[in-house]
Amino acid sequence: MSSKIRTVERNDAPHRPPDWFEIRRPDDWHLHLRDGALLERVVAATARRFGRAIAMPNLVPAVTTVEHALAYRDRILAACPEDADFEPLMTLYLTDETPVSEIEAAASSPHVVGVKVYPRGATTHSSEGVSDLTTLGTVLEALASSGLPLLVHGETTAPDCDLFDRERVYLEETLSKVIDRYPSLRVVFEHITTREAAEFVRAAPARVAATITPQHLLLNRNAIFAGGLRPHHYCLPVLKRERDRRALLEAATSGDPSFFLGTDSAPHTRAAKESDCGCAGIYSAPVALEAYAEAFASVGALDRLEGFASHFGADFYGLPRNTGRVRLVAQPWSPPQSVGDGDSALRIFLGGETLRYRAVD
Ligand code: DOR
Ligand code: ZN
Repeated sequence: MSSKIRTVERNDAPHRPPDWFEIRRPDDWHLHLRDGALLERVVAATARRFGRAIAMPNLVPAVTTVEHALAYRDRILAACPEDADFEPLMTLYLTDETPVSEIEAAASSPHVVGVKVYPRGATTHSSEGVSDLTTLGTVLEALASSGLPLLVHGETTAPDCDLFDRERVYLEETLSKVIDRYPSLRVVFEHITTREAAEFVRAAPARVAATITPQHLLLNRNAIFAGGLRPHHYCLPVLKRERDRRALLEAATSGDPSFFLGTDSAPHTRAAKESDCGCAGIYSAPVALEAYAEAFASVGALDRLEGFASHFGADFYGLPRNTGRVRLVAQPWSPPQSVGDGDSALRIFLGGETLRYRAVD
């Protein structure tokens, strides 16, 4: 165990998990905070644990300009509890029409940290997204020279492509080409879900990184069908095979700074999830840090959690690491199933399951 893991009693015995440990206050590099009443319901869960979070721009209407991003930032801050020590980081939603001037404005704003590409139709609120990234040459050149990272939802939308192959095919047909063509473009391959994506990022230059969600570290696609259809385990990109989960866990716990924390916590009401055509998204914010601890503990790698959760993302984005600390205690607990009631309830990831570590305030 590294010196970052504090142990008590006889915890220095090999492989004995610590009774408690501390890490630097983490950040969430991929988060959906929504807007209006839903924003008010969810922001505190993230602000409590994370120093900063990148707020995704897939609102309706989408956050396509710096002006909109700054107004959204103000709404997020207004919805935070008064004593919160939390900074929202903003992104622009790239469309086929985004002008180079908007990229330049984003790059010179201290509050905008990236530009997000949703392939059109790939996921929730992506209808204004990009039809073919490879055709946006001037915008990609502007991004490359600005140093502002491109945050990529990496899935093809070709209707004949199998759902489980969408990430791999997008990587082969689009993302790898863009990365080769623009040698100074910085890219975050968001919420990777496959062995192929993990191998690609590991082999890529340091300007290419990836976020990994807790659900893709803890679950494989069987979870969607365990004893019946489980809509609350449906997210995009969809959960993959066990061999993919293992590859992601290996990447996250490897100490490679190209992989860092991004929950993709994406709240939808129970009514929107449990429906004829249920929405994609898993709401993990209230348990996210503990869920990552569970994944790292499962392979005896808690000493690697701090790098993944609190160092590598800040380093990639060129931001200072947080100064506070969070303590996690070995105290088995069961998160609540949901917050709120009835149709508007939000089902919480791992609600009702037993987790081995709990963060304490
Ligand atoms: O599961 C997902 N939910 N994946 C996404 O890409 C979007 C997100 C959302 O906004 O609900
Ligand atoms: Zn997302």
